[in-house]
Amino acid sequence: MPSTVIVGAQWGDEGKGKIVDLLAQHSDVVCRYQGGPNAGHTIVVGGETYKIRALPSGIVRGKPCVIGNGCVVDPEVLIGELDEFEHRGHSTEEVYVSGNAHLIMPWHVAIDGASERRLGKLAIGTTKRGIGPCYADKAMRLGIRVQDILDPKILRQKIEVALAEKNLWLERVYETEPFDLETVASQYESYAQRLRPYVADTSLYVDTALADGKVVLFEGAQATLLDLDHGTYPFVTSSNPVASNAATGVGIGPNRIDRVIGVAKAYVTRVGEGPFPTEMEEPWQSRVREIGHEYGTVTGRERRCGWLDLVALRYAVRVNGIGQLALTKLDVLSSFAELPVCTRYRLRDGSESPDFPAHQSDFHAAQPVFETLPGWQEPLDACAAMDDLPDAARRYVEFVERELGVEVTLVGTGADRERILSPLSLEAVARP
Ligand code: IMP
Repeated sequence: MPSTVIVGAQWGDEGKGKIVDLLAQHSDVVCRYQGGPNAGHTIVVGGETYKIRALPSGIVRGKPCVIGNGCVVDPEVLIGELDEFEHRGHSTEEVYVSGNAHLIMPWHVAIDGASERRLGKLAIGTTKRGIGPCYADKAMRLGIRVQDILDPKILRQKIEVALAEKNLWLERVYETEPFDLETVASQYESYAQRLRPYVADTSLYVDTALADGKVVLFEGAQATLLDLDHGTYPFVTSSNPVASNAATGVGIGPNRIDRVIGVAKAYVTRVGEGPFPTEMEEPWQSRVREIGHEYGTVTGRERRCGWLDLVALRYAVRVNGIGQLALTKLDVLSSFAELPVCTRYRLRDGSESPDFPAHQSDFHAAQPVFETLPGWQEPLDACAAMDDLPDAARRYVEFVERELGVEVTLVGTGADRERILSPLSLEAVARP
């Protein structure tokens, strides 16, 4: 079983980076298949913190890292990370960036900001990194791809064609400053010098790795409920984080994916706007935010906090084909006497359902139906194995397993990479 997708099962920030980091040590290649610098993975290693936005988390483990065609690349962010990792003593020689990935251009960032301002109260709450406008241009066939930087003439031509339209929008629709062709072209030509060695045929690279029996991890960014097709549209990102997109986003067949591990917090957080049925009342909201340090890695925004939502998780299991779950940040719940867990939604007609509503207006109106589980009210610091968990904490995990019909194979009990429990060895989780 050499290939595994790690996918966020909620609204993002579930701690995927940490799980990928742990499994990466027993893997041979780590690939990102969608998203861009809207992602923010924090990995803590022996007191050192790494914040990664563009590179796959496997970089911390010195593994070959792939940025697939499904990603969008902000060259300035990527170069910044490459420089930083080299500066901190990590080799970046085995970073491979797909020539088919799209480049985030300065007008994408400008339009993202201007469009959010224009939407006012209806804003999506994006990370303002240009993600949506970049994917929109990809679909419009107006995008500029990583491979375009290999030829300065083509690069300049494509920038010119794009700017002819984008500057009109910026000036006439958004009433903001246009971009100058010379400035953008020379900026991207200089990025080209630095990025050229990393551009590769990543589909071929991953296919060859799989054919050679290598263990490949696919690292999702954002999460199921932020998926453009399956998430809580329009409050979603502009790519497909769901597991099946790992195949498209890297350029391999779906039959090459062997299994899917979902990552979920023991509670739920959400950044940005949109409905959130299990959102906590005060003072729990602030308490969880403080204990769990729930502030965005990319934007620093306060994350909204909610009780565990098993209706949404059941849906994530379905749309991703999740076979195993990593339940992170269980320790954050340690100080609560009682823990409400949402098992069903009450719909507008008064009926109750364990299934996620198919239509937006039903989801907006859905009310959570909670079962209250007892808390454990003791720290989990001393737990070195699943069996060391306090009874109530174990019952919480078993409740999740029963409700979802999937095994929880990893439980996070703290920020550091050692603070993870599993009934199996990490090697057995990574290389079953
Ligand atoms: P965008 O991806 O910047 O277009 O933002 C669209 C929505 O996705 C917003 O609600 C963001 O807060 C959310 N989002 C994007 N990336 C992340 C992430 O890595 N974690 C959590 N939320 C995210």
